[in-house]
Amino acid sequence: MINRIKGTQDIAFEDIEYWQYIEQAVRNITFRYAYNEIRTPIFEATELFKRSVGESTDVVQKEMYTFDDKGGRSITLRPEGTASVARAFIENSFINLGSPVKLFYMGPMFRYEKPQAGRLRQFHQFGAEILGSASPMADFEIIELAYEFLKEVKINKTRLFINSIGCPSCRARYREALREYFRDKVDGMCEDCRRRFDSNVLRLLDCKIDREQSENAPNILEYLDEECRKHFEDLKWYLEKARIDYEIDPHLVRGLDYYSRTAFEIRSPSLGSQDQIVGGGRYDGLVEVIGGKSCPAVGFAIGMERIVMLLKAEKVNIPTDRNSEVAILATGREESLRGFEYARRLRKAGISTYVDVMERNMRNQMKHAARIGAKISVIIGDEELEKDLVTVKIMMDGSQYQVDGDYMVDYIIDKLRDI
Ligand code: HAM
Repeated sequence: MINRIKGTQDIAFEDIEYWQYIEQAVRNITFRYAYNEIRTPIFEATELFKRSVGESTDVVQKEMYTFDDKGGRSITLRPEGTASVARAFIENSFINLGSPVKLFYMGPMFRYEKPQAGRLRQFHQFGAEILGSASPMADFEIIELAYEFLKEVKINKTRLFINSIGCPSCRARYREALREYFRDKVDGMCEDCRRRFDSNVLRLLDCKIDREQSENAPNILEYLDEECRKHFEDLKWYLEKARIDYEIDPHLVRGLDYYSRTAFEIRSPSLGSQDQIVGGGRYDGLVEVIGGKSCPAVGFAIGMERIVMLLKAEKVNIPTDRNSEVAILATGREESLRGFEYARRLRKAGISTYVDVMERNMRNQMKHAARIGAKISVIIGDEELEKDLVTVKIMMDGSQYQVDGDYMVDYIIDKLRDI
């Protein structure tokens, strides 16, 4: 027996309904917000993620699926979507389409993390990005889009956290202040914190282990220059006017290096330790870092597995159309041939039709039709074949009707309407 790889999932039957529901919501919301879909490769040159996500981040240091292909190139399965979108933006000169460019994507991402509830090695994100706008209006729209998406899938109990991590020059001053603050504490802190003290001191703020050590740390918002401060104030103004509740979390610094100014997360109290559903922010430096002309941008990504968990936890009703509407049951070769013909007619009328292809007796075919949840069975035995009839059985109450083969489709459409 060969099993699936740790941290991956097979998604089928009841579960797939959640995914189809979420994907449909993504399509609805992105259509209404006029975003264009982009599909990038699931693997990229390793260098892309090193440069964008950042050499000192956990993602690059510990979590990437990296291998050499047969041509000796270093390839990485994408751990996130933003770097690929920025690369595609540069490579395809999307800038020529006029600014801003509003894109969305859905698909699998790969991170070698310790699997647990809500944390997988292959997981899926729905993400959206606006490239080309430096305005806080773009930050607002991105947050609003994530917020409206959650409403669309009927997830309500969420909290939005925002922060500003300033531009590189505000951050340089803030880093100094943080190092000063942590200098005599760091020796007693966890291994990750000790390592990050030199390479990425901001991350000490969101350490889950040594939380109390950063309680009195200097607040980044006090280190913002005039422009960064104004940007943050404007974003808050738009959020307030749109009545989108938020909390400021000065410890929210995000785990990827490309962010500047706005950083935000949406978390849910219904999830356990992996409570972050949405992560995003502004990344004004990223396009330039990977070789394009400087271009401001902002975006978010939502973890789709976490949405599934929330839908289940909050008992949201998912519409189900997995069950076939009609099952065709026939015994014998000629009867089965007729069955296929009737199935074609029903399908042409848009009715989901299941044909039993097991060559078993009628009793067992009927049992199976009930098991798959068929609403109606169409029975074709020798009598029906001879007289060009079908027997229509309404599975809910067991009632049966003989119907002329030529009227079968109309008859079934009528019956389905009543069921
Ligand atoms: P991120 O915060 O690393 O941001 O991931 C976004 C979301 O993906 C998380 O909030 C979480 O729901 C989900 N996620 C991350 N890792 C896992 C995992 N191992 N298993 C299950 N779900 C996971 C980004 O990826 C950025 N690219 C977001 C962004 C877009 N920023 C700007 N534009």
